[in-house]
Amino acid sequence: MFNLFPRKHPSLPQNDSKRQQEKRLKQLENTQEKYAWDLEHPNVAPVPMVKEVPKEADPTLIWGITVLKVLVPIVENLVANVKDAAELVDIKDGLSEVSEAVGSLKPGQQWTLITNTTEMLKSLVDLYLRLVRSEVKEYREDAGLEAYKDLFQKIPLPAVAEVFQQNDVFARYRVAGQNPMLIKGISSLPDNFPVSEAGYQKVMGANDTLVEALAESRVYLLDYHELEILVDNPQGPQKQVFAPIALFAIPKGDKSLTPVAIQSGQSKDDFAITYAVEGNDNSPEYWQWQAAMSLVQVADGNYHELFVHLGRTHLIIEAFTIATNRCLAESHPINVLLLPHFEGTLFINNSAAGSLIAPGGPIDDIFGGKIQSTQLAAGTDRLELDFYGYMLPNDLATRHVDSKDFLPDYPYRDDAILVWEAIQSWTTAYIDVYYADDAAVTEDYELTAWTESLMAEGSIKGFKPITTREQLSEVLTMVIFTSSAQHAAVNFPQSSLMSFAPAVTGAIWGQDPTNVQTEEAWLQNFPPMRESLEQLSLLQILGGVYYRQLGEYRTNNFPYLDWFEDDRITDEGGPLSQFQATLEEIEKAIHIQNETRQEYSFLLPSKIPPSINI
Ligand SMILES: [Fe+2]
Repeated sequence: MFNLFPRKHPSLPQNDSKRQQEKRLKQLENTQEKYAWDLEHPNVAPVPMVKEVPKEADPTLIWGITVLKVLVPIVENLVANVKDAAELVDIKDGLSEVSEAVGSLKPGQQWTLITNTTEMLKSLVDLYLRLVRSEVKEYREDAGLEAYKDLFQKIPLPAVAEVFQQNDVFARYRVAGQNPMLIKGISSLPDNFPVSEAGYQKVMGANDTLVEALAESRVYLLDYHELEILVDNPQGPQKQVFAPIALFAIPKGDKSLTPVAIQSGQSKDDFAITYAVEGNDNSPEYWQWQAAMSLVQVADGNYHELFVHLGRTHLIIEAFTIATNRCLAESHPINVLLLPHFEGTLFINNSAAGSLIAPGGPIDDIFGGKIQSTQLAAGTDRLELDFYGYMLPNDLATRHVDSKDFLPDYPYRDDAILVWEAIQSWTTAYIDVYYADDAAVTEDYELTAWTESLMAEGSIKGFKPITTREQLSEVLTMVIFTSSAQHAAVNFPQSSLMSFAPAVTGAIWGQDPTNVQTEEAWLQNFPPMRESLEQLSLLQILGGVYYRQLGEYRTNNFPYLDWFEDDRITDEGGPLSQFQATLEEIEKAIHIQNETRQEYSFLLPSKIPPSINI
């Protein structure tokens, strides 16, 4: 029988008595049986996954209830959209019962509540799966964009649906969208993207030149070359992905990026460059430019979901979850620090790998590459991600976007850095409590095993032995930041910025997408109604579940007591309360920022869950 209220007095293995060391070893042997590595997962191999999700890693009751609440309006919306929809009445009655019971949660009710919630979730998910594959109601053939807006019957239409065709909105996706990780500053053009001076001036005006802009660090690039594998393996001539290159610049004296030019593929011989057109004059040039932007948005939808979201948050943290359980005893301070940041991750990854990215699943339905290539692309990106290189400060510097002086308008960077630094102070203070000096780090044989496991079975590229407290803090900061803030920044835009298919989707469906001259031809690029409804339903769920928040550390068993029990961590004014106070300050600072910039709220600490659980 497991202990509902374990006392946690963390200690380093080398400081324990012989008897305690033996106990730790025994506990680890047991845990290693439960958390076995699987390097042959049918959909993501060779990305390391857990062989079987242990029962104890199942999500909590509160998580289930949170998902239920998000799921109800989405199922209602499906009902409103599909032909011959089933009735929802029973489910809704049952749901309000559960919501009420949750409000007055008492230990005695636990069992009924668990049973109710589990059954509710099961029947709602069943209903969802049935509805999402059904045929969509008839709509007017000439409805155009209105048909896509009409899919939002019971959930609010995202604001972006009204403005996504604007150039400034397209530019904003790069610095405050679902994927703020690709834009980079350049000092010269790549050889395969010969943007002309005349073309640049046509967009930016006669008093600016490309040469000047490059010299003044005002030119930025998006390059989707990593998608070439999907370009080479499309699902068909009318369901494909491109690997475009796009150029942006900051006008003289301005703060924000503006789009300049797009080349729809990597080869300058095969693809012409399309220059930005401002304002809808219904000209062939305008629709050609709109089509080029759509093509970039589709590339970004793929880059975001497969790499930035799935690979670089979910799948990276899977390896850390397994290695931590296998190598660090429950009484190890780093185990105690990290486990709350892994809550729900194995469970959600197991369903993502098992159904989301499986043949015939939603990714296969909505995205343009053949599913095996899509899986391979995601896996390759995950395995090739350099752990130290992708640490926020290093990544920003490598992309030449770290300075506010050159790129003033980059909301993701500004907020992410605040949270990164807060986490770094927290891990530094935490480590100082348990590790007297750097020698204590190198003598920690469980930590050594952890590192070796992450390098070998975990396939974390660039991971290396940890020899100092400073390095340990850096590594833990990266792990906690990725599980919390980074995942929040790339997960939650899914509902507001990615669920309206004409703004962002997974494939270009048009017959001749690089030769568009009319609105009618442009509209052909967007998915059929059934796929658009499936996309919005899935992304509204994924982007809608907020479970717990960063800085909150509780057990995952009712009544969800405080997680940390060491006075040196929890004392007033100690490391934990300092971390929580800093997060509150960041919350205020971001609110103040939002008064003078276009709102960016994905990194408000109150909206950052501590773990990847959706
Ligand atoms: Fe996610």
